[in-house]
Amino acid sequence: MENTTHIHFRAETDSDNIVWLHFDKADGATNVLNAEVFEQLDQHLQNIAAQCPRGLVILSDKSNGFIAGADITAFTKVSSKKQALEFLRMGQDVFNRLDALAFPTVALIHGFCLGGGTELSLACRYRVTRDDPGTRLGLPEVKLGIHPGWGGSARMVPLLGGLKSMDLILSGRSIDGRTGKRMGLVDMVVPERPLRDAARKLVFDAPPPHQPAWYDRLSNHFLVRPLLARVFAKQVGKRVSKNHYPSPYAMIDIWRKHATSKTAMLTAEAESLAGLITGVTAQNLVRVFFLQEQLKSLGKDKSYQPKYVHVIGAGTMGGDIAAWCAFRGFQVSLQDQSPERIAPAMKRAYVLFKRKLKRPIKINEAMDRLMPDHKGIGVARADIVIEAIFEDAEVKRSLYREIEPRMKPDAILATNTSSIPLEELSSALSSPERLVGLHFFNPVAMMQLVEVVNGQSTSASVSAQAMAFTRKIDRLPLPVTSTPGFLVNRILMPYLMEAVVLEAEGVPAVLIDKAATSFGMPMGPVQLADTVGLDICLHVAEILAEHFNAEIPERLKKLVSDGNLGRKSGRGFYEYKKGKPVKPGAGSGNWNMEEITNRLVLRLLNESVSCLREHVVADKDLLDAGMIFGTGFAPFRGGPMHHLDAVGAKVLYQQLESLKLLRGDRFTPDQGWAALTDSLGEETT
Ligand code: NAI
Repeated sequence: MENTTHIHFRAETDSDNIVWLHFDKADGATNVLNAEVFEQLDQHLQNIAAQCPRGLVILSDKSNGFIAGADITAFTKVSSKKQALEFLRMGQDVFNRLDALAFPTVALIHGFCLGGGTELSLACRYRVTRDDPGTRLGLPEVKLGIHPGWGGSARMVPLLGGLKSMDLILSGRSIDGRTGKRMGLVDMVVPERPLRDAARKLVFDAPPPHQPAWYDRLSNHFLVRPLLARVFAKQVGKRVSKNHYPSPYAMIDIWRKHATSKTAMLTAEAESLAGLITGVTAQNLVRVFFLQEQLKSLGKDKSYQPKYVHVIGAGTMGGDIAAWCAFRGFQVSLQDQSPERIAPAMKRAYVLFKRKLKRPIKINEAMDRLMPDHKGIGVARADIVIEAIFEDAEVKRSLYREIEPRMKPDAILATNTSSIPLEELSSALSSPERLVGLHFFNPVAMMQLVEVVNGQSTSASVSAQAMAFTRKIDRLPLPVTSTPGFLVNRILMPYLMEAVVLEAEGVPAVLIDKAATSFGMPMGPVQLADTVGLDICLHVAEILAEHFNAEIPERLKKLVSDGNLGRKSGRGFYEYKKGKPVKPGAGSGNWNMEEITNRLVLRLLNESVSCLREHVVADKDLLDAGMIFGTGFAPFRGGPMHHLDAVGAKVLYQQLESLKLLRGDRFTPDQGWAALTDSLGEETT
């Protein structure tokens, strides 16, 4: 065997004259594509072309996968459309060279093969994947506010037809090898051991590459495309608006205009993407990606290896937290006052496991990991005890007094309290440093964020362990101080209360919700309040009102006292049929939508400024991350503080002042604005 070694690639030629090009990015655990990688790949392809081998197989030496996509840090360095275009054309040229090789080329895929990875594989004549659910192919670019630009759509569209390829590109979803084979994206799906033999066979046999069926081809026909393009746009429109997320719409246009010409599509891909990459949406979504990485890195303490979790309180939260921990592989015991109180949680757990795990053997294994334990025997072996009982400080304290002597000396005690300061609870403990808050959000299986609440006595190591545990159950930890409402509820509540005030003033609920969703919120505040439960909203609002001297709208109190608690009771602001709101029309009133949006958003921003001033979180980035992952705050705006900076602190401050005059003291700008406007060198008064 002959060997040539480069930094990121290694080429070997075997005795059958097949070149095996190994990609093993030198400076990272994952293969990603950047300018340097492209340069080296290009050099290799030129050498290999000159060598005229029997075939070329491209494979990854990384255990986690083939290629995860483009190096996203490169996106933040692109400063102009021209620079972006050069980078994209460079990648396209390299993949075109690969595509044009006269001998069989095979991408040998295991693990992640996403974005640029799938684009590279599409420039090969064949794709072989390992047969396991962890092997994923896809073009997820729309999730970052962009679309494929290295020929991903130009090559996928003729291979699969318009319908299948646009479905993959517009949804950004990834698929395993078997699904890829069914769709025509993958030529062979084989277990680990015969992977190389499969690639070798394709080189030797050189079968004709996959051709789409006639009906798949038909979807690319020039008469069909305008019609399908409208259908695609309508489907995309249900999820995102063109103003906020232009990339899927741009992709539909490119396909509609150029589907049958690879050259034209390549040019259009690069031109369009160069504009998108440098646009605000993509830059903000890339920011969100890095915020997520930042939260993940907070839980990186690898030395912490808990095994046993004991959850006390099998209600709405505790039951679901226990199920989630068991789903993520922990041995969990679940305690409540009686077996009858645990039973509903076990049923919900089964439904969760069935939905997530599908295979009966896996479901049974997960059920075996979750033990009902009404006597609380599990306390003694638990590495972490999570308390999620009634929101009553004395009840919680007396439980702590009872369990602490039975806990392992190094076990953590985590409370899911949503409002009680940790200091009020830790007084019952002889080791108060072991108490930390793990504030989960409802529904646990859907909400990514967990606030890790640090009381004055919480030790740094317990806090670090709580964050590491949060990562182990695949949640994002956000360290916050033990102050009323912590971060997310405190910022969300004024926004929800303003929605209630607006509704009480007579603004139709649908219009209030529309103002918020048009701003970019995933759900309007009225529907959100109904979904959370109006009793829970009222409870949190009361706690916050105590500390922050805020007023609670009478309308909310009345709804709760009348038993209209939102979705769970069938009626709140909206009426619910089968769990879905029946939304009345908006009526004929002439409402000022801009003012409605401003009132909602400014109260949220004002509270964000207040939290930052009080150091509830360490910095602006963590605040933005918390609101994006805890509430879905318009990701394309990059978070509340990023939005505030983009619009300008002075402008927003003045809007608050005007609203204060018009609508009352609740719009009084927080003192924290002074620092923000000063930092811009501006006057605040
Ligand atoms: P829940 O009322 O649904 O469940 C509480 C459970 O604790 C009940 O099943 C009760 O029998 C059990 N319990 C009470 N005292 C107990 C004791 N001494 N020993 C064993 N079990 C006991 O309450 P939920 O909504 O699950 O709330 C629990 C905690 O989570 C509270 O601290 C709440 O503030 C917090 N939280 C609630 C959220 C929500 O949306 N419901 C969101 C985030 C936090």
